[in-house]
Amino acid sequence: MSRLPVVAAAFFAVTVIQLLRADAPTALPTNTLKGAYAKNFEIGAAIPSPDTLNPQEVRLLATHFSSVTPENIMKPEAIQPVEGRFVFEASDRFVSDASKLGLQIHGHTLVWHSQCPAWFFREGDQDASRDLVLRRMREHIAKLVGRYKGRIARWDVVNEAIDDGEYFLRKSKWFKATGEEFIVEAFKAARRADPKALLYYNDYSIDSGAKREKAIRLIKLLKNRGAPIDGVGIQGHWTLDSVPYDEIEKAICDFAAEGLRVAITELDIDVVPRGSGAADVSAREKAAADPYPDGLPSDRLQRQADQYARLYALFRKHADKIDLVTVWGLHDGRSWLNYWPRARTNHPLFWNRALEPKPALQAVIDAARP
Ligand code: XIL
Repeated sequence: MSRLPVVAAAFFAVTVIQLLRADAPTALPTNTLKGAYAKNFEIGAAIPSPDTLNPQEVRLLATHFSSVTPENIMKPEAIQPVEGRFVFEASDRFVSDASKLGLQIHGHTLVWHSQCPAWFFREGDQDASRDLVLRRMREHIAKLVGRYKGRIARWDVVNEAIDDGEYFLRKSKWFKATGEEFIVEAFKAARRADPKALLYYNDYSIDSGAKREKAIRLIKLLKNRGAPIDGVGIQGHWTLDSVPYDEIEKAICDFAAEGLRVAITELDIDVVPRGSGAADVSAREKAAADPYPDGLPSDRLQRQADQYARLYALFRKHADKIDLVTVWGLHDGRSWLNYWPRARTNHPLFWNRALEPKPALQAVIDAARP
């Protein structure tokens, strides 16, 4: 396949980024997300990478956001698909383009059971030993975190290690090979590779119920074992009319009471009914109705706006504990909720597919006013 379109796209994106820098958005800062919350916390978006965005999308990103998270390209399967073969082209471009746009980077993610190649856990035709799995994990972290030392502000060190059901920790391949040791060791390896980066444990549904209690238990365990954890990432994949505000507030306070920073790392409000409230990536649903293919009815748009505004007001109330609030996707057309847990036309974010602001944008900006 010809590399020409890729090269052309990269050249185009770099040019757009340069133009934007020259023309850095300074007007009306309080009418942008990052301007409205400048005194409170960083405002982030997850994106594939800056060079996959069109000029209008880059402008949106640079105007409203102060932080970016790579949605997929820094996951283990992308960085080290084969043992010892590190692939840094996409992540190098991400880091350099984000810096040119003046954006902080939230690294995602060093250790996860999903999007992680099987070789980590194999030795010939056997299961790899505990020591080998840990050695490979440390090596992966050292190479990736070390490469961007000083340039990535925060890392999701371990993602989704807590069990959704009766167990404390998820029975992942990491857990089966090492028990809880991989979590402790992942934090230590990340700290060694970049002593200044803030290190987070990241998970979904840890704002509520039993999973919040397990998260506290994990935090205490990590602290007892000398793991250098700085913060907790509450993913925040919530659904319309079911946002658990009180639970979220308790979680923010409980995590802060453990001496940790809090980030909201993957916020979206799903508006198309789905089977489960939890954000387990392995959950898949059969094809079903696609109720809003042409846009969201105005009553739903308004409810979404109200619920986002109430959430940001809550985050603002606890701004002394919160570092960062990141939405998972730049606009509705770029949300993973269009294809997970099944294909449907979703509308979870602040801009629609035509990049027009939805009521939620102004509602959230207004929620920042005293
Ligand atoms: C998702 C990406 O958005 C998708 O593009 C990919 O196909 C699967 O992963 N929790 C996480 C994220 O921590 O990494 C997931 O991202 C969404 C759920």
